[in-house]
Formats: sequence, C-alpha cells, structure tokens
Amino acid sequence: MSQPVRYEVGAEMAARAHIDRAAYQALYRRSIEDPSGFWAEQAQQFVTWSRPWARVLDWDYQIPRIRWFEGAKLNVAYNCLDRHLASRGDRTAILWEADEPGETRAVSYRELFDAVCRFANALKARGVGKGDRVAIYLPMVPEAAVAMLACARIGAVHSVVFGGFSPESLKDRILDSDCRVVVTADEGLRGGRHVPLKANVDAALLACPRVHTVFVVRRTGRSIAWQAGRDLWYHETVASADPECPPVEMDAEDPLFILYTSGSTGKPKGVLHTSGGYLVYAAITHRYVFDYRDGDIYWCTADVGWVTGHTYCVYGPLCNGATTLMFEGIPTHPNPGRFWEVVDRHRVNILYTAPTAIRANMAQGDAWVQKSRRTSLRILGTVGEPINPEAWEWYYRVVGDRRCPIVDTWWQTETGGIMITPLPAVVTTKPGSATIPYPGIVPELVDAKGNKLEVGGGFLTIAQPWPGMLRTIFGDDERYREIYWSRFPDRYFTGDGAKLDEDGYWWILGRVDDVLNVAGHRVGTMEVESALVDHPAVAEAAVVGRAHDLKGQALAAFVTLKDGQNASDGLKDDLKAHVTQKIGAIARPDDIFFSADLPKTRSGKIMRRLLKDIAEGRALGDTTTLADPNVVSRLKEMYEARET
Ligand code: WT7
Repeated sequence: MSQPVRYEVGAEMAARAHIDRAAYQALYRRSIEDPSGFWAEQAQQFVTWSRPWARVLDWDYQIPRIRWFEGAKLNVAYNCLDRHLASRGDRTAILWEADEPGETRAVSYRELFDAVCRFANALKARGVGKGDRVAIYLPMVPEAAVAMLACARIGAVHSVVFGGFSPESLKDRILDSDCRVVVTADEGLRGGRHVPLKANVDAALLACPRVHTVFVVRRTGRSIAWQAGRDLWYHETVASADPECPPVEMDAEDPLFILYTSGSTGKPKGVLHTSGGYLVYAAITHRYVFDYRDGDIYWCTADVGWVTGHTYCVYGPLCNGATTLMFEGIPTHPNPGRFWEVVDRHRVNILYTAPTAIRANMAQGDAWVQKSRRTSLRILGTVGEPINPEAWEWYYRVVGDRRCPIVDTWWQTETGGIMITPLPAVVTTKPGSATIPYPGIVPELVDAKGNKLEVGGGFLTIAQPWPGMLRTIFGDDERYREIYWSRFPDRYFTGDGAKLDEDGYWWILGRVDDVLNVAGHRVGTMEVESALVDHPAVAEAAVVGRAHDLKGQALAAFVTLKDGQNASDGLKDDLKAHVTQKIGAIARPDDIFFSADLPKTRSGKIMRRLLKDIAEGRALGDTTTLADPNVVSRLKEMYEARET
C-alpha cells in the first residue's frame, strides 16, 4: 500500500502555539507517570474552586465508580461568567448570527451574566432547585446558553433536547429524567423555515402531567397556543426578575447535565456528566486542541442539542473567557456561500465543523468558497464521523488555503470532550486519521478477547479514567455498567472499531454496535425499527446503514408488510413520514424496500450484516448460519432490480 499523504506542522504554528512537540511529549509522559499530579495541575490552572479536593481521583472500574476531585467545590456558571467580569466584562461572550444573513447580536460577558442571574431566579421562583432536571428545547439562540448556565448556577441539571426531535422523542426524554420545567421558543428558524417548537412542546406535554412550567422565548413572534398558569414568556420573566443570584456551591461530582444519545436498544440513554471534571476537561481541550488565543473569534457550528454544542459552543469557550460564535442557520441559506460569508463578516479565527457539512460545501463547488477571503482563519477542526481523505484535502486546500492545520477530533457524547486529535503544532497529519491521544488519555486497541494489540485493526478502548468521562446513564446504573464496562474488563469500551498504524496513528473505522452515524449524528437502528413497526401496515422491519456521499451513512429499511397490505410508493412515503414524526427528520430512512421475508438465523435473529451487503451492492458475506439461504439471494436480486 502506498504511504498516505502527510502534512507537516507549519513553522509559524510551531513557533507560536501553546504546546509544541517537545511540550506535548513532556506533558503526555507526565500525564501517564503521574496522572494525579497532572490532572491536579490542569484543574488548578483552568478552574476556580471554592474549596480544594481531598483526592484527585477515586477509581474502581469493577463497580464501576469514578470520582474526580472529590470534596472540591465549584460553580460552573461562576467559572464561565463571574470570574471574567473584572477583566473582560464588556467583551463579547456570545456573537450570534441569525438565520437571516447579517442579523447579529453581540452579548457581552456582563450581559450574559445578568441574563443568567435573572433567569436562574425565575427558575427558582418556579420551584427549581439543586438536582432538579430542566428540559431545554430551543433553537440556536443565546437564550439556550442562558438557560444552561442558569441551571448550572443553581445546581439544576439540564437536559437539552435537539430542536429537530419530534414531540414524541421530547416526551420520552422529559419523562425519563422527570423534568418539571421546559424552556422553549415560540418557533425556531432554519434556512427560512419555521420550526413549531412550542406546538411540539404542547403535543409532548399531553403525556407529561408533572411539567408545571414552560418558559417561552419569543423568536419569530408568530401566534402560538398558550396555557395560562403553565406558560410564561421568557422576556417578561427575565425583565422582572431579581438580578442578584449568588451561585450555589456544588460538589465536583454533582451532576451538571444529562444528554440523551442513541444506543443499540430502542430507548435512548441519558448520559450523565458531572461538574468539576467535565469543566476542567472542556476548558483544557478547548484551549490546546484549537490553540485558542485571547481575543480569537471561535466558531463551532454544532447545535447545542448535541454534546459538541455543550462542550465547544458553551462550556469550554466560556470557561476560557472566549468569544463563541453561535449560528442559528444552515450552510446553504440563503446560498451555499453562507459559512464563508460568516467567517469573513466576523473575522473567524477558529472553525470547528463536521465532515457532513464539509462534504455538502464541497459538493457546491469551490467558487462559493473562493468568493470569500477567509484570511482570518488559523485553525480548522472536524468532528462527528470519520472524514474521508478527499473531504479533508478539500477543507485544507480550498477552505484553509493550505495555511491552516486541520484537527480531526475523535470523541463521543460519553467522553465529554476531545480524546484523540492532532494538536496543531505537534502532529504531522495524515488525512483521515484522528492521529494521537490528548495528554492524559490512554486509548488501547484490543481484539475480541480483550488482548491488547500494538498495531492493526480491533476495538477502541480507553484504559485510564479521565475527568470528562460520563458517570452513569441517568436512572440506569446497570445499563451503564453493561454497555461500557462489561465487554472488556478494566477498560472503557467506546463501541468503535479502529486501526492503529505503524506510526501509532489512530484511524477510526466507525461503530461496531447497532448504532449508525448519519450526518455526524448517532441513530440507533432499533429506534428506527420500533418506529416502523409502530405503523399499522408493518409486520417487521430491519434497518441498516449504507454508505452515502454527503451524510456518511444513510438509512436503508427492509420492511415486511402485514397480510393484506399493498406495497406502494405512497406507503413508502407514509412510512418515511411516520418515522420523522416519531423520532425526527434525522432518522428518516432514505430507502425503503418491501420484502416478503427477512434473512434470519435459525434462532430468529435478523442478519443485518447481510442486509447491509445488499444495500451497499456488495457480494454477500457468510450466509451459512441462515435459516433459509434463499431468502437473501432472492432479496438481493429484487433489491438490485428495484426502481430507485
Ligand atoms: C461517535 C460519537 C463527539 C461529538 C460528535 C458525535 C464517531 C466522532 C469522530 C472522528 C471518526 C468519529 C464515532 C463515535 N466520531 N468523531 N473525528 N472520526 N469518528 O458524538 O453522537 O456521541 O457520536 O461518532 O463513531 O463513537 P456522538
């Protein structure tokens, strides 16, 4: 095999960055030889604590029990706001660009602080206290950060639900963590389209009798239904609220937030993150991975509904006193040059986005990028799925004009922050590889029996604990143990397959469980299958991922209909709409294929692997365990003959 292309660290970057190659090697070595000393130092440098810890780490993977900075006290909102007021109160904390080009808002640290204190008091006035859960279902508006930080200020636990999720998904999440308060907006605005957020909340709450309060941010001003007593306008509440709100002193291990993500069962899991370790990890990775410098304009394009939005739009940058750009819109509205126009308008220095967005931009042709100057850009980042070398090269050559290093950052909702990544002045990059671990992180490759491998392909595990790791699945410690700690003893199992090359570089191959990655978002095949069988015409369904040029993976559904039901294009559309309505547009299957039978093992398990071969037009893999080998060959013939 030919050697992949490599990109050396630029001289200017090497001279100016916070961490150069020598510093990385020293830091990494120290982080392994003396983890407690290393993390204690990071925690002291990046976070202000009101009481020090008694112990840096208490760790027992058998239970599993992981506690960082035990005994220490802090408040996350204090760290993101109060402590910056004296030195940078008038600097912009959130630079907001609306869906409509050029409509912007700069929220200073002082203004953000004021809004957070007032909204925290409004929450308290509705009975929200330490440990209570609050659901946040908002578009990308500064009020989303206000709501998150207001929860953090009073010790409430937020659960942000992505605005693209359906009322039913919202309802499931509200019920699972027993939220009593919801924060939403009248509508969202994306690419000129109105998203009926409040109407979705109203529909969800029909089945959530314990929710007593809904705060509504006025975004579009269109008329909405209103339930007096329950619904309150955000702007009215904040205007009349007391601006004094002392931060509640929290234990390092008190929960900060729950974020639902898809797993290999039909039910999303509430990943729980705590306060001290998460914040330390968010802040240090934000500073070093992006080589963040004071005064930079930093833009992470992720929605706050995903973990990237939590760690790298809100907590990491604000803890570091940065200016974080928040973008409400989409890359193609009103034209495909929008990203680059935003970069130029705000003189963005650091851009962090996803392979799916990079590929979508690439597909529009270089001219849209070349209309802009992009001279402010210094660092480019990518996250969410493996980036194909072609898209990497395009990002480097066309967007970054070959000046800007690319950091391909591997991590997960569960890890809290970036785990495997080049640091911009440290690593010679190879397009498509997330390269090497961040200091303090010990990834290890293992085979199916858990034996450690030095090179080649296998499962990606993490051998040592790190402060940003999840602590449990909300309300289900057993599922937490089972998913992450039971497959391989004494290690965290990521669910990803990976390859380690001769230079010690990591190449992430993707999920090895029943989880798909569609446009950088996790979709559980079981969730989509349950949504399909919920339709009255469907008897059985199997969902697999197939390669897709823009989204990385697309969903292909094989559906068996109930007796007497007729396969038709109309029914296909109906099923797609049904899934969208049950889960949200991200789970909408691209292909639906009707079939009288599904390939099953003798014990009745659907063999998704074979369906995937069919959906991707490959030769069929091993079929010897099939109950009826004819089913799959028939299916393959029919699939290939289908009208597309
Ligand atoms: C899964 C986690 C972490 C924020 C966004 C997604 C895949 C993530 C990369 C990357 C290859 C990646 C993995 C991982 N993934 N980043 N740079 N290269 N794969 O968070 O929804 O929790 O998904 O996304 O498969 O397990 P998430």
